[in-house]
Amino acid sequence: MNIKKINRVGFSPTGTTKTVLESIASGMDSKASTFIDMTLPTHDEAICFGSEDVVIIGAPVYAGRLPVHAVERFRKLKGEHTPVVIVVVYGNREFEDALLELKHLVIEQGFVPVSGAAFIGEHSFSTVEFPVAQGRPDSSDIACAKAFGEAVARKIATLESLVGVEIDVPGNFPYKNGMPANSVAPVSMAPCTLCGVCASVCPTGAIEVGDDVVTEASLCIRCCACVRSCPHEVRVIEDEAWKAIGVRLHTNCATPKMPQLFC
Ligand SMILES: Cc1cc2nc3c(=O)[nH]c(=O)nc-3n(C[C@H](O)[C@H](O)[C@H](O)COP(=O)(O)O)c2cc1C
Ligand code: SF4
Ligand code: SF4
Repeated sequence: MNIKKINRVGFSPTGTTKTVLESIASGMDSKASTFIDMTLPTHDEAICFGSEDVVIIGAPVYAGRLPVHAVERFRKLKGEHTPVVIVVVYGNREFEDALLELKHLVIEQGFVPVSGAAFIGEHSFSTVEFPVAQGRPDSSDIACAKAFGEAVARKIATLESLVGVEIDVPGNFPYKNGMPANSVAPVSMAPCTLCGVCASVCPTGAIEVGDDVVTEASLCIRCCACVRSCPHEVRVIEDEAWKAIGVRLHTNCATPKMPQLFC
């Protein structure tokens, strides 16, 4: 099979998944690939792919599952027996059922998974004081992702057709429970300039900036995109229980994990 066009599709509030997808694509073909960013609620129409496309699709792991908004948005994708590389990026704890969930989802949407991978990204809750997987994906993750992309391209090139192509990935079905309902969100402290950057990166539209910054906590998925992107570093997590999770992850997930590849 010939690769005619490489498409990257991702949900990536803090950017680590996006980086991994770019690195895999660069290994598959040094020519430019297209990125369809589904992090923000901007895609209303179905996005269709043909049998001459290859899609590399990725999302972070939230509570061992895919983020619900990633699932919702990926349901807009329609494959036509289109080969797909499935990727999850997790914060050095575990990826549990997320890769299996992604495999099932893409098959339901008309794609054929040819390879899969779980990479490590700096945990969304990581802070300077309590880092978790700090700096991941690092240069060795990037090299691994690129080599994985090269291996995937070789595999696709040797396939006559996709009939009978299957991959095994870890995970259980029924899946574990995902994120529980949320009632807390980051807050904006003085001297907030009301610049609106936090609202512009929020994947769920939870933030409104007018005379003040108002956050609808029930919409917050705790992705930390607003915290990371605030140019004045005044968007912060105040909730003690949330901060305690970060401290626990720092202690319990200190040993670096390695990417896992499923070709
Ligand atoms: C709400 C939430 C839940 C998470 N759950 C997990 C998890 O179960 N296991 C894990 O290792 N990392 C977990 N993470 C960390 C992310 O998977 C990780 O930081 C990932 O690199 C973020 O991807 P992004 O940069 O593309 O947003 C979680 C992050 C968030 C925000
Ligand atoms: S990004 Fe920071 S400074 Fe700008 S509105 Fe949000 S909290 Fe305020
Ligand atoms: S308000 Fe919540 S969902 Fe929106 S960017 Fe901030 S952490 Fe993410």
